Amino acid sequence: MATCPKTLRLLALVEEIRSSIESNDASNAAARSGLLMKITNLRDAVEAPQDSLLRIYAQPLQNAALRVAVELGLPKIISTANSPIPEIGISLAQLAGRSHGDPRLIARLMRVLTAMGICVEVGPERYMSNPLNEVILQPGYTAGVRFHFDIEIPAIIKLIPCLDKNAFQNPVDASQSAFDYAFGASFFEWMKENPATLRCFELYMAGRRVGKASWLDYYPVEERLVEGTSVENVIFMVDIGGGQGHDLKSLSDRYGDKGLPGRLILQDLVAGTREISATSFESMVHNFFEPQPVKGARVYHLRAILHDWPTAICRTILSHIADAMTPNYSKLIIREFILPDTNVPLYTACTDVRMMLLHAGLERTKSQWIKLLSEVGLELGGVWTAERGGEGVIEAFKSAEAQE
Ligand SMILES: C[S@@+](CC[C@H](N)C(=O)[O-])C[C@H]1O[C@@H](n2cnc3c(N)ncnc32)[C@H](O)[C@@H]1O
Repeated sequence: MATCPKTLRLLALVEEIRSSIESNDASNAAARSGLLMKITNLRDAVEAPQDSLLRIYAQPLQNAALRVAVELGLPKIISTANSPIPEIGISLAQLAGRSHGDPRLIARLMRVLTAMGICVEVGPERYMSNPLNEVILQPGYTAGVRFHFDIEIPAIIKLIPCLDKNAFQNPVDASQSAFDYAFGASFFEWMKENPATLRCFELYMAGRRVGKASWLDYYPVEERLVEGTSVENVIFMVDIGGGQGHDLKSLSDRYGDKGLPGRLILQDLVAGTREISATSFESMVHNFFEPQPVKGARVYHLRAILHDWPTAICRTILSHIADAMTPNYSKLIIREFILPDTNVPLYTACTDVRMMLLHAGLERTKSQWIKLLSEVGLELGGVWTAERGGEGVIEAFKSAEAQE
């Protein structure tokens, strides 16, 4: 039987997936993203282009259905449903009763959610939780659903007028972002005046670490940072713009018993650790547009900071840190996405556009990182990543020559 070229192509893609699975490629982050790319290639080869477009059109509606479901508390009610037989899930009538929502509305939302793979429809209008629903329930991920919808969608709507006003130039002015256009202030200024949303943002920032590879798993902290720390040095790490201190806490939890050589200092616009008991670190109010008051620390740490800002502003932030660094001793650790030069994964490419919308910021390639560092007199010590196109560690230092 003659096999047509399309069938041959599909079979070749299936074979690639099969051999990836046989090589246990679902077991670590890097291999898993490669396997997912192959599965996406197979889906794209099966799907008619018109259907791909219809799927893309429907994406905002999926976010809307999920956002309303979270507002009504449906993921939690489904998860905790105390059905006499757990396998049969919760009925629409019970779900409506416990959420105080209209059953006709909930049925329509649940159709979208179950088709998205959130919960399982185990029978007509009966729903059961699944792992994706359980992740949505974690406080950080619930906050993420709220944050992306309530904050991002208004900015997305203003993107065209905002770009049009600037003749479709690539945004580089933090006070001219689509967020600013939608909310009338820059992101962090607006957050200061809206504590409930700030709280949601903080929860989301902290919670999105759950279940993701930690930098402590793929960056050799002991070899690169702990060893070589001078015994007279009293400050080991300053986490600049460190939010509530989750990174210092996890560092202390991992290495505290062995004794980190020096103090840990959290810096942000407000001092405080509402979530974390701060026995492991100290808090300090510091605006990173001002000179860095802590001089000569072994490590200055910036996570998810520089992607919030256009390059000219990043130079200011980094110059203050570089001024405080001891040549050939202090290290700067930047934890951000490192965009591959080609075929950037969809999530990372979208995050870059998100930074543009919210802050006129951007995600950067390795060569953009090296250029930015060199513009403030810093040199690259190395780059470590867990997966292609994901968040990585960029280590930098100031050489003695740069000081002269
Ligand atoms: C995207 S969050 C990242 C927080 C934390 N590093 C993390 O990864 O979870 C950006 C942080 O920068 C802080 N920030 C914004 N502007 C700042 C400024 N001018 N000086 C110091 N911190 C600032 C915010 O308060 C927020 O905690």
